[in-house]
Amino acid sequence: MKRIGMLTSGGDCQALNAAMRGVVKTLVHSEEEVEIYGFLDGYKGLIYGDYRMLTGKDFSGILTKGGTILGTSRTPFKTIKDPDENGLDKVEAMKHNYYKLNLDCMVILGGNGTHKTANLLRQEGLNVVTLPKTIDNDLYGTDMTFGFQSAVDIATNCIDCIHTTAASHGRVFIVEVMGHKVGWLTLNAGMASGADIILIPEIPYDLNEILAAVEKRKKNSHFTIIAVAEGAISKEDAKLSKKEYAKKLKDSPYPSVSYELADKIGKATGQEVRVTVPGHTQRGGSPCPYDRVFASRLGSEAANLILKGEYGFMVGYKDREIVKVPLEEVAGKLKSVSPDARIVKEAKMMGICFGDGVDYVEDPVTDKKAGKEKSGKDKSGKDKDK
Ligand code: F6P
Repeated sequence: MKRIGMLTSGGDCQALNAAMRGVVKTLVHSEEEVEIYGFLDGYKGLIYGDYRMLTGKDFSGILTKGGTILGTSRTPFKTIKDPDENGLDKVEAMKHNYYKLNLDCMVILGGNGTHKTANLLRQEGLNVVTLPKTIDNDLYGTDMTFGFQSAVDIATNCIDCIHTTAASHGRVFIVEVMGHKVGWLTLNAGMASGADIILIPEIPYDLNEILAAVEKRKKNSHFTIIAVAEGAISKEDAKLSKKEYAKKLKDSPYPSVSYELADKIGKATGQEVRVTVPGHTQRGGSPCPYDRVFASRLGSEAANLILKGEYGFMVGYKDREIVKVPLEEVAGKLKSVSPDARIVKEAKMMGICFGDGVDYVEDPVTDKKAGKEKSGKDKSGKDKDK
């Protein structure tokens, strides 16, 4: 007999239900007898003992359903060790409920913050297996998180729709894409939808480079599509301390980086600029087929670990293989886009502007010297002709 607790924590995404279904179907299909305890609204459910006993039937018919049947909430890791408003020790409360129900293991589905708390529970002696969810794809230890491909589809569809109206009106359009502090979603949706300019947090931009790219487009096509990550940042702002930048954002008259860019591009070029923010639609609706399969596979492998009694791992995806990654390797690390990633270089070779003034004109697979700044300096800052 295995007694399994399960919870989903942090921002939701597509395929959370598909992943849980994968876990439960695999367990139910095994010879092992199982009891499933679903904790409601993330870690809150585990802290306050708010759970439901579930059977295989509860996981039937949810493969295509977005959101999470368990509900979710954000329980920030940085305050997890602080007592709640009634003085309750949250970590002790989670351990208490785990032991009270005599659980063999917790299955925890979440992103970065969730994994920090999951690792803490492991350190506190609980058996934990985790699954990597987030539309941001920023979780360390896995090449891909579920939810990401579905969000790429939605953001791509949004930019595709913008394309036709931008072309009709000859306007500059900015589409602001989610992704928190990383640019995976913007980079992929931007490339999938043929954006002319892609701005991501990992590659700080220079406004003049963007203006030059818009002017160049104006001469040839008279409309421009700019995919901007919600965390995109200028070269100047990237030099500020975290505190200074937070203050700047707080005092800014603009609701987000896209509106600031729209204002500046409009004033400098005289072109009409519009902003579209698809926002939480990117996290909503039914998972795409890729995510349904991917999340089911990860869920099934998580169940396998449980059946073998192997705990303390996230089930991830590396080099096209499903792998188990020790939680201590995952917790607290961010997976960002490398400005030197081949996909970025390929995008640059196609003429997509990243606003950094570094062009790639040669094949990065065969030529290591590529990467020239328009200023006449190479990436190391040396004159390129010397
Ligand atoms: O982490 C997923 C995400 O959708 C990010 O892309 C975004 O920055 C954030 O969550 C939004 O959080 P909330 O739903 O709490 O507003």
